[in-house]
Amino acid sequence: MPTMEPYRIKVVEPIPITTRAHRERALAAAGYNPFNLAATDVTIDLLSDSGTGALSAEQQAAGLRGDETYAGARSYYRFHDVVHDLTGYPHAFPVHQGRAAERILFTALLKPGQVSVSNTHFDTTRANVEILGGQAVDLPCQAAKDLDDDAPFKGDIDLDALEAILAGPRDVAIVLLTITNNGGGGQPVSMANLKAAASIARRHGVPFFLDAARFAENAWLVTQREPGYEHHTPRQVAEEAFRLADGCVASLKKDAIVHMGGLLALRDPELAAKCELLLIATEGFRTYGGLSGRDLEMLAQGLLEVTDPQYLRARADATAYVAELASAAGVDSVRPTGVHAVYLNAGRLLRHLPPSRFPGFALATELYLAGGIRCAELGSLYLGVLDDAGELVEPAPYELVRLAIPRRVYTQSHLEYVGETLAEIAKDPERVPGYRLTHVPKLLRHFNCRLEPVG
Ligand code: F0G
Repeated sequence: MPTMEPYRIKVVEPIPITTRAHRERALAAAGYNPFNLAATDVTIDLLSDSGTGALSAEQQAAGLRGDETYAGARSYYRFHDVVHDLTGYPHAFPVHQGRAAERILFTALLKPGQVSVSNTHFDTTRANVEILGGQAVDLPCQAAKDLDDDAPFKGDIDLDALEAILAGPRDVAIVLLTITNNGGGGQPVSMANLKAAASIARRHGVPFFLDAARFAENAWLVTQREPGYEHHTPRQVAEEAFRLADGCVASLKKDAIVHMGGLLALRDPELAAKCELLLIATEGFRTYGGLSGRDLEMLAQGLLEVTDPQYLRARADATAYVAELASAAGVDSVRPTGVHAVYLNAGRLLRHLPPSRFPGFALATELYLAGGIRCAELGSLYLGVLDDAGELVEPAPYELVRLAIPRRVYTQSHLEYVGETLAEIAKDPERVPGYRLTHVPKLLRHFNCRLEPVG
């Protein structure tokens, strides 16, 4: 049977259909920064898969059952039971989103000068380490560096480098594996790598945590790619992965398919007590942590739905389909394709643009102008080193564009439209202009910068 979405549509929301002239005006008014666009000017929004999913009927129903009691709400116990069954961690705190869990965990765990080691820290995770005076060290495996390499687990951490840093003079406070590795092309981490990293961390007495934002998508790819796991369900893989670690931080806006929510869960009672104090002081009481009872119910239900193999297969196939359409149009993307996003190789498509003219940004902008498709640059604008005038001093290693696919939101014809728009651009890539910065904020550049086309 061909794969298809294992659900049908009960509620619809119109999407804005605009003209190129309208989009040209909207983008110029936004300083060419897609983060400044209003949703009413966007036709297909692939900016993020975070908090953008569609709720199921069961989640909506669960939301109505939400108990809004201040302390000890029924909804908290449902949340706690679902998280405990899935992860095995005795202490589970709700937080308003993933970065709140990161801030609380690192504040409790990390002293200035200490190091956090990861396959790749997500940008908020890195920021939370650095704000506390720590250092975030990324140790992606060798295969991750080659965008065209089809190795199945390019999210793995480099185990030799992990062993070396833990045996060396640096004071490592935590090892944190991001599953799947969003900063590294959405690539999965194998169970073999998780086990080996956990055992190395344990041998050196360093806490081992997961950034589990996309735990179910990682588990799906394990069942598809890792020998020995082909007969496991994604749920079994996920349960095993959580049990290898001392705890997790997670943005539940991804794999709990809710619009808001996060999780900090862990084993160590002393660390949990420290985290709980910070939680109460900054997020909310331990039984709601910045969320409503309605939110807690919906995310508990989402955590049960997300490991459905039919859903994960359909989602993985849809993402692979976008990558195939891109490839047929002559646009390469990071291989092998993951689940939550396609990372287009804009540097290769727009060879006429040097990194200083931001080819990733130029492709993202063109997708908006040509089709009202919003997406994010992951290249020199975001990751390069710039001087105060906005001239590029050191380019990023790659010039990518992330097409993040919201969960259960777009149909196959929406995705075909994305492929067709990309194919139009790829017919004559030299037409796409480069960009120069006109406003360069010191911090969080990509959110607030403004640009203009060159030539
Ligand atoms: N960790 C990972 C791997 C993430 O992808 C994100 C968010 C976070 C942590 C932070 O979670 O947003 O709930 O505070 N990623 C979003 C994205 C923003 O578009 O990839 P948050």
